[in-house]
Amino acid sequence: MGTRRLAVALLAAVLLQALLPASDAEGLVRIALKKRPIDHNSRVASRLSGDDAAATRPLLRGSGASSLGSTDEGDIVGLKNYMNAQYFGEIGIGTPAQTFTVIFDTGSSNLWVPSAKCYFSIACYLHSRYKAGQSSTYKKNGTAAAIQYGTGSIAGYFSEDSVTVGDLVVKNQGFIEATKEPGVTFLVAKFDGILGLGFQEISVGKAVPVWYKMMEQGLVSDPVFSFWLNRHADDEEGGEIIFGGMDPKHYVGEHTYVPVTQKGYWQFDMGDVLVGGQSTGFCAKGCAAIADSGTSLLAGPTAIITEINQKIGAAGVVSQECKTIVSQYGQQILDLLLAETQPKKICAQVGLCTFDGTRGVSAGIRSVVDDEAENSNGLRTDPMCNVCEMAVVWMQNQLSQNKTQDLILDYVDQLCNRLPSPMGESAVDCGSLGSMPDIEFTIAGKKFALKPAEYVLKVGEGAAAQCISGFTAMDIPPPRGPLWILGDVFMGPYHTVFDYGKSRIGFAKAA
Ligand SMILES: *[C@@H]1O[C@H](CO)[C@@H](O)[C@H](O)[C@H]1NC(C)=O
Ligand SMILES: *[C@@H]1O[C@H](CO)[C@@H](O)[C@H](O)[C@H]1NC(C)=O
Repeated sequence: MGTRRLAVALLAAVLLQALLPASDAEGLVRIALKKRPIDHNSRVASRLSGDDAAATRPLLRGSGASSLGSTDEGDIVGLKNYMNAQYFGEIGIGTPAQTFTVIFDTGSSNLWVPSAKCYFSIACYLHSRYKAGQSSTYKKNGTAAAIQYGTGSIAGYFSEDSVTVGDLVVKNQGFIEATKEPGVTFLVAKFDGILGLGFQEISVGKAVPVWYKMMEQGLVSDPVFSFWLNRHADDEEGGEIIFGGMDPKHYVGEHTYVPVTQKGYWQFDMGDVLVGGQSTGFCAKGCAAIADSGTSLLAGPTAIITEINQKIGAAGVVSQECKTIVSQYGQQILDLLLAETQPKKICAQVGLCTFDGTRGVSAGIRSVVDDEAENSNGLRTDPMCNVCEMAVVWMQNQLSQNKTQDLILDYVDQLCNRLPSPMGESAVDCGSLGSMPDIEFTIAGKKFALKPAEYVLKVGEGAAAQCISGFTAMDIPPPRGPLWILGDVFMGPYHTVFDYGKSRIGFAKAA
């Protein structure tokens, strides 16, 4: 109860957005936490002042060898940082360039901005709109296109024009002119559109992404781009993306590279997740993960996020299914685990899942958590079966740590009191950061730690400050899932290189 009230309070201060690219059926959710900009002197504001010079070259910082020090030449795009939760920069479309603020999103692959021909969506009137008639380089295409997101959608048609990114001008770039932006998602957004940096495989209409055109037109010497996201929200520089290189000023040591396993998102294999130095065993055999600049938090499967949030004292929701399972089937599940029954089959054996482990037979009492799970994730699995499988994971992990049966049942019952709401945010005590454990993710055999100050997001200052866990629960069903989404909570502490040429992703400590 208190939890939900707090969540509502947090929502009042922070807008939570879940954007789901349509190209993947079960969708990935990206979250953006936004707040009114504090920076009244921003160049974003200056473009509204009617200053034409500012309008054509907003926010786009100079590039070239000098500003990059000893690096390869690269095209730098400065980013604005809102509350460490959303980073965006400006691009130009057309000749002369019309300015748009966009999210540079490695989790999708299309470019879209609102169209001047968008008449019936209020969102369009609150943002910059592309006027084809005012561009000498506009070329008509007209093919209809639509992108469905978790909390909204856009629809429109393709057009072609020059797109200015930093100092580069990408010619004949196909993009979507959005003529419909229903719902509130984009109504309240601080950005006008989205520039996708994912692979063409997930591009709606198979449109060639901006990044591909940049390479095709020989605008970058090296087929890589890199992200630096400043986690000091008050600094003037919010972050930067460099197309064609990386800036050694913004990382220390060498990058650890991991191959891209599936082209679509920037997907790779991740290993074990450790809490306070202790293996959770959860991804020991490998989990799929993506590096996603369009997601604010770090999303993972509910079972493990529940354990992490429990360890950091994050608030959650009581699940009656979970408590019922522990009290009625807990001992039986433990006995089966001790008898070394295949964990996958245990929930079927106690009668909570059907034999294939995908559909349950028991109705059980439904809780808020599960209703939300269905709504937001579109999953239709039985809650009792789901929770049973999580309980098995939790118990297995505790058994491997040689915990006594009583301790295990007690621990699992505690977890039942703190289930995270799917894609929700969980409050944590701002005063307890000192006692929270590091959370480590194994990538290419190396451990990447997140410290409490890195994974807790602070909203507000002083006594009014509220803190939320940077971990959020999301269950993506097989075959695509389970999938971890390493959003800004991870890409902030770790400078990230998207190496298209060598089909790999690199992480190094950010500086
Ligand atoms: C229109 O754009 C789409 C997506 O980029 C492309 O596949 C199609 O070939 C284009 N059609 C024309 C007539 O240019
Ligand atoms: C648990 O006990 C087994 C057998 O006594 C031992 O080999 C193992 O190292 C112990 N594991 C832990 C995590 O303490």
